[in-house]
Parts: sequence; C-alpha cells; structure tokens
Amino acid sequence: MRNVKISAVGAWVPPRVLTNDDLARMVDTSNEWILERTGIEQRHIADPEVATSDLALEAAKAALEQRGTTAEDVDAIILCTVTPDHMFPSTACIVQHKLGAKRAWGFDLIAACSSFVYGLTTAAHLVGGGTHKKVLVIGADTMSRIIDYQDRATCVLFGDGAGAFLIEPGGDDEQGFIGFRNEIDGSGAEVLRMPAGGSRMPPSHETVDKRLHFVHQEGQAVFKFAVKRMGEISAQLLAQHDLKPEQVKLMIPHQANRRIILACADRLGMPHENVLINIERFGNTTAGTIPIATNEAYATGRLHKGDIVLFAAVGAGFTVGANLWRWMF
Ligand code: UT7
Repeated sequence: MRNVKISAVGAWVPPRVLTNDDLARMVDTSNEWILERTGIEQRHIADPEVATSDLALEAAKAALEQRGTTAEDVDAIILCTVTPDHMFPSTACIVQHKLGAKRAWGFDLIAACSSFVYGLTTAAHLVGGGTHKKVLVIGADTMSRIIDYQDRATCVLFGDGAGAFLIEPGGDDEQGFIGFRNEIDGSGAEVLRMPAGGSRMPPSHETVDKRLHFVHQEGQAVFKFAVKRMGEISAQLLAQHDLKPEQVKLMIPHQANRRIILACADRLGMPHENVLINIERFGNTTAGTIPIATNEAYATGRLHKGDIVLFAAVGAGFTVGANLWRWMF
C-alpha cells in the first residue's frame, strides 16, 4: 500500500443557533440539565430549504479551496450521512453535480456516527491501492430533520453541520495513514434507530402518527456501549502500532456526549488537554462531528505537521471505528 495523507480539511455549519434556553421553551428541560448531562450549550440548525447536500457542498468547497485544487481533479466522493437528501439517488450524486466534480464517482456511506471514520478508512484504501489520487470524504448530517422536537431525551443532543477531508497519495516520507480498526456489533441495532421509512416499515399515516420517522434512542444503553468500546478499540489500535497514548498529539473523537469522551480518555490514559471537545457549540452532528472538530483543531493551531491524530467513534448499529493518521500539513 502506498503512502496516503490528509491534504486538506474544510467545514460548514448553518448560521442559525438553537440554545439550551430555546429548547427549554419547547420541551420540559433546562440549560443546567443539558449542560451537566451532555456538555452541550448550543447547536446549529439548518433553515427549512437547506438539505444535507447543501451543507456537504460548502464543506467540500472549503477543503478544495484550502488545497488550492478544483473539483475536476476529484476522483471519488464518499458522502457519509444518515440524513441523505433522498432515499435515492445518493447524496454523493447531488454533491458531485453541484460541485462540478465531473470525473468523480462516489457513494453514500451509512454508519451513523461512525460514518466518517469508516469513510476515512475506505478513502485510505482507494488511494493507498494506487487507483485514486484525490478522494473527498464528506461527513454531513441535517439531524434536525429526523429529530422529534417533542422528545426531550433526544432533541437536546443533535445539531446540523458538515466537514470534509481531501485524501491524496503521500510522498515517500509522508505516511499519513497509519492504521485502523473498525467493527460492527449488530446486536445493538434496536437501541438507536429511525424505525420507519425504510423497507421494513414503509411510510404510512400510522408511522407518522406514531412518530416513527424520528430518532429513537435508549440513551443509557448507547452511553454504556460507547464508553466501553470507543476506549477499547482505540487502545487496541494504538497497541497494534506500538504506540502509547502519550504519543498521540490529539484525539479527535465523535462528539456525542462530553461525559462519554472524558470517560474514554480516562480509560485510555489520555490527558484531557490532548482530547478535542467542541460539543458545547455544535452538539452531535453525527457524521459531521469529526471533520468539523478537525477543521477547528487545524484552524486554531492545535495540529502541526508530523502530529499523530487518533479519530474514534461509536454510532448506531452499533458501529465502532478508530483511525490513526499522521497530520501532514
Ligand atoms: O452519537 C449517537 C449516539 N448517542 C449517544 O452517544 C448518546 C448516549 N447517551 C447519552 O448521552 C445519555 O444517555 C443522555 C444524554 C441521552 C441521557 O443522559 P442520562 O444521564 O443517561 O439520563 P437518563 O436517560 O438516565 O435520564 C435521567 C432522567 C430521566 O428522568 P427520571 O426517570 O430520572 O425521572 C429522564 O426522563 O433525566 C430525564 N431527562 C431529562 N430531563 C431534563 C431525559 N432527558 C432530559 C432532558 N431534560 N432533556
């Protein structure tokens, strides 16, 4: 496998902000409860006419602009999302057209909150195998479209947003992609899902009346699994590459809950200052969290050439993933 690197990062979130106090006027909750249990202060929400492809497009444009390259150079687009514009065609097709990425093929990747990590692994192998030179991995979700704003247990958690990485071959001394561990534990499929709208339970008046087109979650079951497996898989990946937690400059985990992230960091023996947390401003943007956080880390000078970065996530499925990369710009 040839060397592979992340060559650019971009992100975009819609401007409108929904604060905890706003939510407290909609459901029986409070700023104190949300802050203490999740670490979230606010989240960004897309206007009604904005869909996932619109968020994805802006993030992709930002990454291409940062790299100083054009859409025509992109070979493939991996669009990570659980909130596609439509069931089909894929949102990758819509973004390919809007972006003008005339040569690119691509597909949507559904692994919920682990989607972006899975997308990174996939892109690393497309590029590492020698068949692709520029792969855009976009994590984009408009969670507000599938959230029940009458359900206080879920509506406080999620926000909308997108981020994108450009993945390219690395030079001889540029081994950006170090390794990965991804897995699925499908026994957890029931505890976090959108029950209706697919082939199992197609849309009907009944599914709408029963509010089955929204996210349904058993919060504590997901919490416990996430704390256990996100830490374990990260430790296993580090051990596989003979790396100690202190050699990781920055851990950029999926942002689902501040308490989950800190518990994982503690289990891993990672100092909290080496773990990026920005959930307070964005909430859980599902596939968007890791690239949005990475974009922020780079923009604020927390990532430098040569730094080892650990991306880790747990999501519905359950899906679990961790990727190790060396930052190359
Ligand atoms: O990335 C996708 C994966 N999703 C996650 O990683 C989410 C994982 N789960 C969590 O982050 C947490 O389980 C939650 C933040 C969802 C909930 O926190 P918790 O500490 O597990 O609370 P809980 O579900 O045990 O609920 C405790 C109490 C309950 O009341 P009672 O039964 O003790 O009277 C809930 O009804 O808090 C109540 N509650 C709320 N109260 C005020 C639940 N949601 C709210 C709310 N405001 N928004």
